[in-house]
Amino acid sequence: MKALVLSGGSGTRLRPFTHSMPKQLIPIANKPVLEHVLASVGSLGVTEVGVVVGDRGRQIADVLGDGSRFGLRLTFIEQDEPRGLAHAVAVARDFLGDDDFVMYLGDNMLPDGIAEMAEQFTAHRPATQVVVHKVEDPRCFGVAEIDPDGRVLQLVEKPLEPRSDLAVIGVYFFTPAIHEAVAAIEPSARGELEITDAIQWLVEAGADVRAAEYGGYWKDTGHAEHVLDCNRRLLDGITHSVTGDVDAASELIGPVVVEQGARVTASRIEGPVIVGAGSVIENSHLGPYTSIGRDNVLRGAGIAHSITLDGARVSHVRGLHGSLIGRFATIGACDGGSTHRLVVGDDTFVEVAV
Ligand code: DAU
Repeated sequence: MKALVLSGGSGTRLRPFTHSMPKQLIPIANKPVLEHVLASVGSLGVTEVGVVVGDRGRQIADVLGDGSRFGLRLTFIEQDEPRGLAHAVAVARDFLGDDDFVMYLGDNMLPDGIAEMAEQFTAHRPATQVVVHKVEDPRCFGVAEIDPDGRVLQLVEKPLEPRSDLAVIGVYFFTPAIHEAVAAIEPSARGELEITDAIQWLVEAGADVRAAEYGGYWKDTGHAEHVLDCNRRLLDGITHSVTGDVDAASELIGPVVVEQGARVTASRIEGPVIVGAGSVIENSHLGPYTSIGRDNVLRGAGIAHSITLDGARVSHVRGLHGSLIGRFATIGACDGGSTHRLVVGDDTFVEVAV
């Protein structure tokens, strides 16, 4: 089996981050979402992975390299525009050949693993096996109607009136039968070649299309709140490890990772927290549930339930909570008065206590 990881798209809901980086590189527990995805794919024993990329392909390739770091062989496949998930399968046609493949959306996190569903697919080998998950509001997803044996009766992309609460989530298992379906469908109302429509085409052609229910934790990390929630979930699993320097005046409570070259002085860190390599933390209170990226400088900072990306700086500002702070962003205190001075970029979101 091969794998196809989709890392194109525009990421409009994750602006301003996606003005300068693809959403699949947003770090969760200090690792880009895509690295979590590749680890999940690698755990299936798959080694040949196609990575579909759009205009940010260079950045993605720079981070992932040739894949040997993950025990994988990566082939980058360019998609000129985000013309839909089925279009991504079409552009990967040569790479996929006539092999079965697992398609994984590069912004989806399924930290409880997909091995069981992969085994189910290999054992029964239906034409397609989608993965479904019960959600409260299925209207922003592909929605599956299935019979008691797990056979898919109908699939609809983002229906206004969903016929079930089973959302199709970002992992699909395909036999080469999908290629005929992809070639047969037309773009949807939103102008995309929908994989949901291609699978529905198979259902209507009488093919065996199955759904496997995933009961674990799942997030589509396309929104800031989802990124933060997922970060909390992953930090719950970290093991205490300190390879950086922590002085005697600092206190670490619970699981805390202090990476190499990081320096913590006169600070209190309430785990779970990760402090990225090369970061400097002074007179600060971090955590719980916080990931500090690489080469940050935090002085007199208070931050919890948050993520900072590489190179961020926070000076003498406490009370940061539920925040996502971008690369090389600077947050500081003004001298006196009660004014707030902000230099914020396009599509930025700021909430100030008044
Ligand atoms: O998250 C699950 C949902 O993902 C499913 O329930 C939907 O049925 C499915 O259509 C998809 O919906 P989204 O609207 O959330 O897809 P999004 O545009 O966010 O794209 C998903 C991933 O695929 C993302 O990593 C970007 C990548 N992508 C997307 C498009 C449209 C590509 O690589 N190429 C594309 O053309």
